[in-house]
Amino acid sequence: MSKKIGIITSGGDAPGMNAAIRAVTRRGISLGYQIIGIKRGFKGLIKGEFVNLTSRSVSGIINTGGTILHTGRCPEIKTKDGMKKTIDSIKKLELKGLIIIGGDGSLAAGYALSKYGIKIINIAASIDNDIYGTDETIGYDTALNTAVEAIDKIRNTATSHNRIFVVEIMGREHGFLTVDVGLAAGCETIMVPEIKVNINKVAKELKEGKEKGKTSEIIAFAEGCGSLSDFGNKIERLTGFEVRVSTLGYIQRGGSPTARTRILASRFGYSAINLFDEKKTNVLIGITDGKISAMPIQNAIKYEKKFNTKTFKILRTLSI
Ligand code: F6P
Repeated sequence: MSKKIGIITSGGDAPGMNAAIRAVTRRGISLGYQIIGIKRGFKGLIKGEFVNLTSRSVSGIINTGGTILHTGRCPEIKTKDGMKKTIDSIKKLELKGLIIIGGDGSLAAGYALSKYGIKIINIAASIDNDIYGTDETIGYDTALNTAVEAIDKIRNTATSHNRIFVVEIMGREHGFLTVDVGLAAGCETIMVPEIKVNINKVAKELKEGKEKGKTSEIIAFAEGCGSLSDFGNKIERLTGFEVRVSTLGYIQRGGSPTARTRILASRFGYSAINLFDEKKTNVLIGITDGKISAMPIQNAIKYEKKFNTKTFKILRTLSI
């Protein structure tokens, strides 16, 4: 009888996906499974593109960004026809189940497939850290460190020129990454979709900051807050100070994963196979209060992760 499990990375890549692929492969092999790596996300699965993963083929990847399996966004899977093709492909490859590494889109695909009887384990991976059912996602800590390092550099030039900077952080329609970047980089304030802020008040505070002797002021601005340049122009007009804007963009998605990300990915991958082997499928692997958790996928997609306003308050108090 086939003991083949498929593994797929889908949606936006996140640093640490490779560490998770390595962990799934090696733990799977140790339990007697054959691990089939699906290439290019669900687009590749529909086309039946795969590679047999061995202990050696996942050597030297724990420290690399991106995903050796490649990834992609696949709107087709949301259609009835796309779903049918995906299931046909899974059957053709004789997979006992599928481990999906990715963010919210991957969760939705996992849920849809589970309704057709496919055994699914979702592993939370996204730089956005916006998934309900886990305190942290694979890639988040690496993106956080990348963004903080970039803002530290921006701080140098901001101070030299006595300028205000508005720095755009990724996160789709959420500010989870932005608020932690803001706190860790010592930003004066943040703009996130979850918190309504009066721009006149922000400008007034920035002016007061200058009066207090601040030589640089930095706002971390979540991409979900709208136009960065419009916001920067308004701040310049309202404060009368020189403002520059900077988008960190896709550098936040790349790079060698931090030790924290690698450990999380290794734990997630290892637990994913264990749960599969114990027949506890259709769950999202996450971490809750330091412990590995497994939440039914249907709950993970039903609820929204709550924004931590406490971190915002700490940031504001410490930015005087
Ligand atoms: O979900 C990860 C993410 O990088 C978001 O932060 C960003 O909004 C989005 O993906 C960008 O998507 P794409 O890779 O399709 O341009």
